[in-house]
Amino acid sequence: MSVPTKRPKMPFSAYMMEVVMSPLERLRGRTIANASGKVLEIGVGTGLNLPYYGPVEALYAIEPDPVLLEVAKKRAIQHNVSVEFVQTGAEDLPFPEAFFDAVMVTWVFCTIPEIQRAIREIFRVLRPDGALHYIEHTASPHNAMRSVQRWMTPVWKKVAGGCHLDRDPHTLLTEAGFLHERFRPIQTSFWNPFPIYAGSAHKPSAGGS
Ligand SMILES: C[S@@+](CC[C@H](N)C(=O)[O-])C[C@H]1O[C@@H](n2cnc3c(N)ncnc32)[C@H](O)[C@@H]1O
Repeated sequence: MSVPTKRPKMPFSAYMMEVVMSPLERLRGRTIANASGKVLEIGVGTGLNLPYYGPVEALYAIEPDPVLLEVAKKRAIQHNVSVEFVQTGAEDLPFPEAFFDAVMVTWVFCTIPEIQRAIREIFRVLRPDGALHYIEHTASPHNAMRSVQRWMTPVWKKVAGGCHLDRDPHTLLTEAGFLHERFRPIQTSFWNPFPIYAGSAHKPSAGGS
């Protein structure tokens, strides 16, 4: 999949976020290709995933930061992607229960202040059997690095917009009732404080599987 090169005009803070995220660009396409039906993207940021969506029934995107949201709106226009944007956090999703077929999350679980509440909300708005697809940096699988992450997180959070190095989305999703389909390691070497996984999980069907 080709990497989009057009960049809308944006404030410096948003530009810096894009520069920091740019080495991850090549990972987006494969995860976003899973989106189908009525789709919600959580924490759309400046809309870097938008060019990768194929034809879906409807695309909604939420983002609490008004500056980033404006950039995402421009990017949607630039790439001719139809999106219903809502400025809000994931902890209170303004959608009915079972409204979406799929929810997409890239590098957001690390930042959401009330992560368990947000995951419960994602579970609520997904239909039974609906899918959550994500790419996240997580707690390290290596104990020593996990300790370093725990030690670094209080400082890191202050300089990196609330980002936690030591969150474990796999466990948080299990606790919320999600069933895992895939949890693919991408960058997990011992020395890496930002190990990355791509995952897919689903809400159990009405029959419970
Ligand atoms: C590292 S950026 C990733 C942005 C985008 N998902 C991407 O892949 O480029 C983290 C994003 O999480 C958003 N965020 C922070 N708190 C949030 C919340 N409570 N609910 C939803 N998104 C949140 C931030 O505003 C920011 O856009």
